[in-house]
Amino acid sequence: MNTIEKTDKYVFNTYGRIQKVFVRGEGATLWDEDGNKYTDFLAGIAVCSLGHCHPDVTSVITHQASTLVHVSNLYYTQPQAELARVLVEKSFADKVFFANSGAEANEAAIKLARRYFNREEGNQRYKIISMKQSFHGRTMATLTATGQDKIKHGFQPLIDGFVHIPFNDINALEEAMDGTVCAVMMEPVQGEGGVVAADPDYLRSVRELCDKEGILLVYDEVQTGMGRCGRLFAHEMYDVKPDIMTLAKALANGLPMGAMLATEKAAQGFAVGSHATTFGGTPLVASVALTVLSIISEPEFLRNCTDKGEYFKSRLNLLKKSHPQIKDVRGQGLLIGMELDVEAAPVVEKCLEKGFIINAIQGNILRFAPPLIVSREEIDALVDVLDTVL
Ligand SMILES: Cc1ncc(COP(=O)(O)O)c(C=O)c1O
Repeated sequence: MNTIEKTDKYVFNTYGRIQKVFVRGEGATLWDEDGNKYTDFLAGIAVCSLGHCHPDVTSVITHQASTLVHVSNLYYTQPQAELARVLVEKSFADKVFFANSGAEANEAAIKLARRYFNREEGNQRYKIISMKQSFHGRTMATLTATGQDKIKHGFQPLIDGFVHIPFNDINALEEAMDGTVCAVMMEPVQGEGGVVAADPDYLRSVRELCDKEGILLVYDEVQTGMGRCGRLFAHEMYDVKPDIMTLAKALANGLPMGAMLATEKAAQGFAVGSHATTFGGTPLVASVALTVLSIISEPEFLRNCTDKGEYFKSRLNLLKKSHPQIKDVRGQGLLIGMELDVEAAPVVEKCLEKGFIINAIQGNILRFAPPLIVSREEIDALVDVLDTVL
């Protein structure tokens, strides 16, 4: 049995997989088991931001794997403490909770927001407002928070106390405030929903409204964080701070890790015993995340991401002039969406045949999320292939 047959026979059939088996990676390049080479413009969906097998990441994994991999959170470990310090120093936050995925980080944020208001008997603020077309994960609470019906199908009854409103519509948010809301949860740039950015005025008004109501603002930066949008955290572009923020994906460049960051005030919602996870912030993943952060948070590295993102978008906009099936090019940094007026899947397939990995979302949108170390030459090569394929 080959790998595809074995997977299809023994692994749950929950992914619509493309018929490729990858065996090796380096930088923005992947190789399949037949020795074919591909340039990766997906990076494991915005995960391997430093590219595949970055030498510093490989070296810290090797070192930490032979030093200490896991100790229970019943004890203290050095990499976790240091990572929390660095995350706090580089963000709005005062406290960090470590999880293992984006969904878990969001689950923690939802629990924190509810418990912040409901620590004491009788407080009735429990509703979470999130956005239509949002994506927050696949656990029961996070799929309930997610603003896309297809994700929820068959899982009813969902969790009580979630309300969805149109994105970028401040009136809808005002109308949803009824004294029972504890938090607004949103992605500064919707990723899975189609690469749609919040309007700056909207985000400022959301913050003001949350302050007026005395409720918490939660940013899901699972996809947009860690330099993806050209800033360490995408909300820095707007200069509008949250009370809680979640991270995952690129945090440990492919090792499973999530984090929920919060202000001192919001963090008071949790106490000993409120929340826990066995693997959260183990020495192995935490030491990798420290290395990733030290590279990505360099101003020069981030500036370079912004420049390459602008260059990429300008090349795609040029393509738009000669290909009427391109409706829109949008995004921030190296999270870029190209909306088509035709199905995106055949384009993805053709690009793969020509050695480029890209991704389709929402049926007609191409999403590009290359490793942040992608070169201009690699961008040029993809744009040339897109030109031919389209
Ligand atoms: C914005 C956002 N939140 C949450 C998640 C869920 O993360 P995970 O798949 O690690 O649970 C994703 C995954 O794509 C995401 O893009």
